[in-house]
This record gives sequence, C-alpha cells and structure tokens, in this order.
Amino acid sequence: MKKPLLKELWEKLWKRPTAKWLLGIPMGAFLFLGLGAGGLLTFNVSMQMTNSNEFCVGCHIGMDTVVEEYRESIHYKNVHGLSASCADCHVPEPFLEKMETKIRSGIKDVYKKYWVKDINLENFESEHRLRLAEHVWKTMDEQKSSTCMKCHDVAKMDKDKQPGRAARRHDPVFWEESGKSCIDCHTGIAHKRPFVQN
Ligand code: HEC
Ligand code: HEC
Ligand code: HEC
Ligand code: HEC
Repeated sequence: MKKPLLKELWEKLWKRPTAKWLLGIPMGAFLFLGLGAGGLLTFNVSMQMTNSNEFCVGCHIGMDTVVEEYRESIHYKNVHGLSASCADCHVPEPFLEKMETKIRSGIKDVYKKYWVKDINLENFESEHRLRLAEHVWKTMDEQKSSTCMKCHDVAKMDKDKQPGRAARRHDPVFWEESGKSCIDCHTGIAHKRPFVQN
C-alpha cells in the first residue's frame, strides 16, 4: 500500500541529507528554526507596537481626557526633554506581569471600546474616572510602583536638595516599615487627580 502523502513528506523532512553543505542536518530542523525565528520576530514587533504611545492614544483620545492632560504634565514635557510614555507607567517590565497586563486589558479594553462603548467625553469625569483611577492605584500598589522605578531610583535621589519631609520619606527603610511605595504618596502626576471624598 502507498504511504499517505503527508507521512512521506514528514519522513523526508527528517532524513539526514547527503549533500555536504547541509552538514547532515535534516531539512526539518531548518524549517523549524525558520518558523521559530519568524514567530519570535512577530512577537517582538507586536510587543513593541503595543507599547507605543500611538497605540494607546488612538483609543483613548476622544473617549476620555487622559491623553490631553498627560501632554500638559511634567511627565510629557520638562526641562530635561525626558518623556515617560503611557506604557512606561502602565505596563510592568517583568515578562509575566507584562503579558498578563497585555492580555487581560487587551481583551477587556477592546470589548469595552467597540462593544459596550459606555465611556465618552460627557460621562468620563462623572461616571468613570474614579473607578478607573482606583483600579490603577490598586494595580500600582500591588506592583509596589515598579513602573515608576524604571526611571526613578531612590538611591540616586539627591536628598540634600529635596525638602526635608521628602528626603525622610524617600528612605527605603521607611518603606519597608510602612509598606508604602511611590503611588501611596504621589498621584495625579500625569493626569488630573480624580476628586476623592474623604
Ligand atoms: C482598543 C482600545 C484601547 C487601546 C488600544 C488602549 N486602551 Fe486603555 N482603555 C480602553 C478602554 C475602553 C478602557 C476602559 C476599561 C473599563 O471601562 O474598565 C481603558 C482603560 C485604561 C486604563 C484604566 C484601567 C486600568 O487598566 O487600570 C488604563 C491605565 C489604560 N487604559 C491605559 C492604556 C495604555 C497604557 C494603553 C497602551 C499601551 C492603552 N490603554 C490602550 C481602551 C483602550
Ligand atoms: C520614563 C521615566 C519615568 C517614569 C516611568 C516615571 N517618571 Fe516621574 N519623572 C520623570 C521625569 C523625567 C520627571 C521630571 C523631572 C524634572 O523635570 O524635574 C519626573 C518627575 C516626577 C515627579 C516630580 C513632579 C513635580 O511636579 O516636580 C514625581 C513626584 C514623579 N515623577 C513620580 C513618578 C511616579 C509616582 C511614577 C510612577 C507612576 C513615575 N514618576 C514614573 C521620569 C519618569
Ligand atoms: C511616604 C510618602 C512618599 C513616598 C512613598 C514617596 N514619596 Fe516622593 N515625595 C514625598 C513628599 C512629601 C515629597 C515633597 C514634595 C511634595 O510636597 O510633593 C516628595 C517629592 C518627590 C519628588 C520631587 C522632588 C523635588 O524636590 O522636586 C519626586 C521626583 C518624588 N517624590 C518621586 C518619588 C518616587 C519615584 C517614589 C517611589 C520610588 C516616591 N517619591 C515615594 C513623599 C513620598
Ligand atoms: C508618569 C506615569 C504615567 C504616565 C506617563 C501615564 N499615566 Fe495614566 N495614570 C497614571 C497614574 C498614577 C494613574 C492613577 C490616577 C492618578 O493618580 O492620576 C493613571 C490613570 C490613568 C487612567 C485612568 C483614568 C484616570 O484619569 O485616572 C487612564 C485611562 C490612563 N491613566 C491612561 C494613560 C494613557 C493613555 C497614557 C499615555 C497617553 C498615560 N496614562 C500616561 C500614571 C501615568
């Protein structure tokens, strides 16, 4: 009986080649290497694209006012010409946390933007801002403000130049004891701080 075509192809793929320049490596190995490299490249490109400001801005502008506020903030424009991107603050660096953020908010945000469509410029401030901000505060608190520390390093802060009350609070020993991180003390640093009633 004749072998099924696919099986025959598969076997051919893994046969050691006789041509010397192939070094005895089966064609299959080259094929898989190629597929792997292609996949990795696609993965890296999509990771970078989804970390760009254009990607975030495209969805948020016209829906809420965070982009406009960010562009007026010190994290967009300052004397040093050093800008923090949306993803710098909102997407954590460690691989698993990054993937979780991208997948979870990716699915939810696309669903909400194109299906639910409940947020708009009229109701953002009154109905949605506080809820979303609280989610960000909670997330950053859980991550111990790790995204802030991509850029800010307390060890390198010139404490002598900071006001006394800041220098004391920028001591890692104090954080250990109090369980606090940047976001506990610094909010509204890129967008308008939502009104919170105490
Ligand atoms: C497909 C459209 C879309 C894109 C692209 C998008 N967002 Fe959003 N985003 C939304 C929607 C819709 C919500 C509101 C979700 C809700 O109501 O819970 C939201 C909520 C948020 C929130 C608040 C809730 C939270 O996750 O803590 C943050 C922060 C945020 N987006 C940041 C970003 C950043 C940073 C990027 C780019 C890396 C981005 N978004 C790209 C649509 C989008
Ligand atoms: C991409 C780098 C980067 C990231 C990420 C970043 N910052 Fe900054 N931050 C800066 C720069 C640059 C300045 C402006 C320094 C200046 O001009 O004085 C700044 C300024 C500040 C200031 C001083 C504000 C003022 O009005 O003087 C605070 C507070 C601050 N950042 C907190 C944070 C917190 C909290 C986070 C995380 C949510 C964060 N930063 C994330 C780069 C960054
Ligand atoms: C326990 C509270 C607390 C924590 C935690 C904290 N800060 Fe501060 N920070 C302050 C206070 C208070 C000031 C004084 C200025 C002010 O009134 O906002 C300050 C000032 C600053 C300034 C401005 C310094 C200057 O003199 O211009 C920066 C930048 C800053 N903090 C960044 C951070 C970052 C980044 C983190 C996390 C790595 C952090 N802080 C954690 C309380 C804190
Ligand atoms: C320097 C860090 C930083 C940068 C840069 C930044 N954000 Fe935020 N973002 C925050 C913090 C902190 C909050 C929590 C609310 C607050 O304290 O202002 C927040 C809150 C939000 C929210 C919830 C609604 C609200 O107003 O609180 C959205 C949506 C959001 N950011 C999207 C973005 C987008 C889109 C960009 C880029 C155009 C961006 N952020 C850039 C730190 C940042």
